[in-house]
Amino acid sequence: MPSWRVTDARGIAPDVMSTGSLDDLAGERVVSETAEEVADAVASWIAAQARRACGDHGSFSIALSGGSTPRLLNAMLAGPEWRGRIDWTCWNVYFADERACPPDDPASNYHFARATLLSRVPIDPGRVHRMPAEREDLDAAAAEYSHLLATSLAAEGDRAPRLDVILLGLGENGHTASLFPGTPALEVTDRWATRGLADYEPFDRITLTFPTINAAAAVGFMVTGAAKHEALAATARGDVPASRVRPTDGTLAWFLDAAAAAG
Ligand code: 6PG
Repeated sequence: MPSWRVTDARGIAPDVMSTGSLDDLAGERVVSETAEEVADAVASWIAAQARRACGDHGSFSIALSGGSTPRLLNAMLAGPEWRGRIDWTCWNVYFADERACPPDDPASNYHFARATLLSRVPIDPGRVHRMPAEREDLDAAAAEYSHLLATSLAAEGDRAPRLDVILLGLGENGHTASLFPGTPALEVTDRWATRGLADYEPFDRITLTFPTINAAAAVGFMVTGAAKHEALAATARGDVPASRVRPTDGTLAWFLDAAAAAG
C-alpha cells in the first residue's frame, strides 16, 4: 500500500483514510500502512533534508531521539537501500535527549544510536555530539551541551541554534524528547538544553528545550502503533508537551502508521 500524504488539516487527499481526531495536528501528516513503510518514508525525508542542507550550507545537522521506534529507521538507513545514497561526510549528529547513564549503558540513547546506526555508516565520530548525561552535575552537563549547540550551529541573533532536522518520538503521555508533562523543563526558554525528569527509569535526563526544537529547519515525529493514537489526539487538542512543538520558521511532519493514525 502506498504512503498517503495528508497535507495540512484541510487538505486531505481523496484516498486517505479519515484520521478523525488528528485533523488539528499542526504540520503535514504522512500516513503509511506499516511501521516498515513509515521508516522508509522517514529515511527518504531525512535523505532529502540532508541533500538540501549539504547543498545549501555544506553540512547537515540532525538530532536523534531514543526509544524503540527509531530502530527500524536506523536499520534502514544503515542498510543496502539507503546507506549508499547518503553523503554521510556532511552529517553532524546531535541528540534530542539522553538518559542519565554511561554512554555504554543499554539505556543510553547514544548507545542505541551507535549500535543501530552510527557504527554502521561512515560518519566521522568527531562529528557525533552526545549529551554527557553520565555526569554527576546534570545542570552543568546541560549547560555544556547548550554551549556546544550555540557554538557549532548557526543562530539568528539571540535565538536558539538552528538544527537542520530534529527527529522526535511521542510517548503515550504526550512527552517528546525528555519534555515530560508537569516538569520544569517545559518552561525553560533561555537555554538550549536543560535537565529533564522522566516518569520512567532512568528518571534523570538531559533534553533539548522547546526554543531549540522550534528553531529547527525541519522537525519530524515518527509515531507507530495503536497505543499512540490517544497521545496523538491529545497532541492535536493541545493538551500535552508535544503540542508545543511548532517550528517558528521551519517545517513539521508527522510520520504515522495506520494503527497510530486511526487508533
Ligand atoms: C527517550 C526518547 C523518548 C521517545 C518516546 C517514544 O529517550 O525515551 O527520546 O522521547 O522518543 O518515549 O518512545 P518509543 O519510540 O519507544 O515509543
